[in-house]
Amino acid sequence: MEIDFNDKVIIVTGSGRGIGREIAESFTKNGATVIISDYSTESLIEAENLFKTKGYSFKAIPCDVTNREDVQNLIDLTYKEFGKIDVLINNAGITKDNLILRMKDEQWDSVIETNLKGVFLTTRASIKYFLKQRYGKIINISSVVGITGNIGQSNYSASKAGIIGFSKSIARELAIRNITVNIVAPGFIDTPMTSVLPDGVKENFIKKIPLKRMGTPTDIANIVLFIASPLADYITGQVINVDGGMVM
Ligand SMILES: NC(=O)c1ccc[n+]([C@@H]2O[C@H](COP(=O)([O-])OP(=O)(O)OC[C@H]3O[C@@H](n4cnc5c(N)ncnc54)[C@H](O)[C@@H]3O)[C@@H](O)[C@H]2O)c1
Repeated sequence: MEIDFNDKVIIVTGSGRGIGREIAESFTKNGATVIISDYSTESLIEAENLFKTKGYSFKAIPCDVTNREDVQNLIDLTYKEFGKIDVLINNAGITKDNLILRMKDEQWDSVIETNLKGVFLTTRASIKYFLKQRYGKIINISSVVGITGNIGQSNYSASKAGIIGFSKSIARELAIRNITVNIVAPGFIDTPMTSVLPDGVKENFIKKIPLKRMGTPTDIANIVLFIASPLADYITGQVINVDGGMVM
């Protein structure tokens, strides 16, 4: 997709690899300056090298979204260096699957901390700048399992459903200030997160997808670009499923 993002400053959390990195790349290809960030030093360095080689306009800032100081640093440094933040994309996420009977406190807590509290922390830290600008767009990456639930993913589904409730609430709070908040709910996407699944599990998932294929990170980046663009200025508080028709 081609949309002009010249002079736009976009933050993408968890953009060292997978969907986040693809989103970041798509924005830079369309003229934006992107802040890539991740808690994995290895992934961030890999992304940084790739972006340098391709000549993209970017800055890499390490950030663990569960760490309040890291988050504050990510947002403040971006604003200090570029004088504005146009779009915040909350993409960082993890899974720690288990059946409810065997779910450990640590598995529950770490998934909620990363996937849900992380979104709260980055959003709260950026709001003062969005208010000052009287403009901003927040795009939160949820999942279709936040809508449907999934066996073995009570922690993950709860975190992703939480993102939807959180986003709709702040969409209502912030609309009057010209700040939009939307949610993208991917289905089954081909990334390092899903590549660890056994082939049999993948085939079963694909059978349930009307379009009969896994999604690609580009499928997700395309909708994010659209929501971040002026074409979507009148859209807020919406969940947009990108899932090959899995949930309808
Ligand atoms: N792949 C899918 O099928 C799928 C489906 C629905 C939703 N999603 C969501 O899309 C997002 C991206 O997923 P992906 O498939 O690219 O996964 P991925 O594991 O390939 O990438 C996630 C990235 O987030 C980073 N990250 C994890 N915890 C972090 C933290 N505390 N602070 C900062 N960075 C952190 C990881 O290091 C990694 O680089 C996630 O929120 C995921 O839940 C993915």
